Amino acid sequence: MKRMLSGIKPTGELTLGNYLGALKHFVNYQDTYEMFVFIANLHTITVYQDPKQLAKHLKDAATLYLASGLDPEKATVFLQSDVLEHTQLSFILSCNTYLGEMNRMTQYKDKVSQGETNLTVGFYSYPTLMAADILLYDADFVPVGNDQKQHVEITRDIAERFNNRYSKTFVVPEPLIPIAGARIMSLSDPTKKMSKSDADNKGVIYMLDSPAQIKKKIVAAKTDSLNKIQYDPEKQPGISNLIQIMAACQEVPIAHVVAAYEDANYGTFKKAVAEVVIDTLAPIQARYHEINQSDLMEKTLAAGKAKAQRIAAKKLVEVQKKIGIEIRE
Ligand code: TRP
Repeated sequence: MKRMLSGIKPTGELTLGNYLGALKHFVNYQDTYEMFVFIANLHTITVYQDPKQLAKHLKDAATLYLASGLDPEKATVFLQSDVLEHTQLSFILSCNTYLGEMNRMTQYKDKVSQGETNLTVGFYSYPTLMAADILLYDADFVPVGNDQKQHVEITRDIAERFNNRYSKTFVVPEPLIPIAGARIMSLSDPTKKMSKSDADNKGVIYMLDSPAQIKKKIVAAKTDSLNKIQYDPEKQPGISNLIQIMAACQEVPIAHVVAAYEDANYGTFKKAVAEVVIDTLAPIQARYHEINQSDLMEKTLAAGKAKAQRIAAKKLVEVQKKIGIEIRE
């Protein structure tokens, strides 16, 4: 079985975009791949987070993973900081990464060009930690959104460089961009991604939003005055986003949604989208409350930690021997 690994960085409450773009796919993948899914809690602190809020977001994210259908019997679910090998390998990889490569990372460049002056060293070296996350487990595939593709590419470059320098050590991973639901946009500004760190709450549906909140946000979603339900992200980004949301929730092609609502007006269509989203999230929310009353999340993370540690520790020893810093046989 090929191995797949992905991390999620809960700097805020998880959104419908996280669910449709990532979680839902992980759940489907767990039958086909040996899945490793972790909470990238170290990555969250590359930008300051309020400690209390952060702990809540991390706990909710872990619970929502399980509530969405990740099965601890099938997938290894763990917390990044539980496996110390991630940071150790990250340092070693950073010694095999050039400043020029890091300076070319768009996430970093964007922040600099936006005039951010308080960027941390941790934020700058974020990609080598991500490379370590992936390479420790010999992952074949890494499902990520488009915005993370460059990080997987630098991981491949680092892995290849290391393999060439020290002999074959790492599997060179492939990025896997899920097609459906890959890019759910903000409801209030459909040219921007629906983001958990978005200050504008109205554009974002959270996985734990109540039916009334969901309905309100979708009914208020920004559209256009063409009054035609068709998929055209350029000319009708708002309507196209709603079509995409409905298609992803129902797991049907976009054309199917368009055909079903061609003659509907925007009001009717929005109500239908709201219904579908509410129906999609309701069972997950029910399960979330159930899991919160149990110790399933804690148990899952403990088992995940043990399994991840075994694999990571072995890989790290191999790496340390190859580079000559481990002096015992
Ligand atoms: N950087 C990813 C994000 O912001 C999260 C992440 C961290 C990740 N380590 C990873 C994703 C390893 C895939 C593989 O969403």
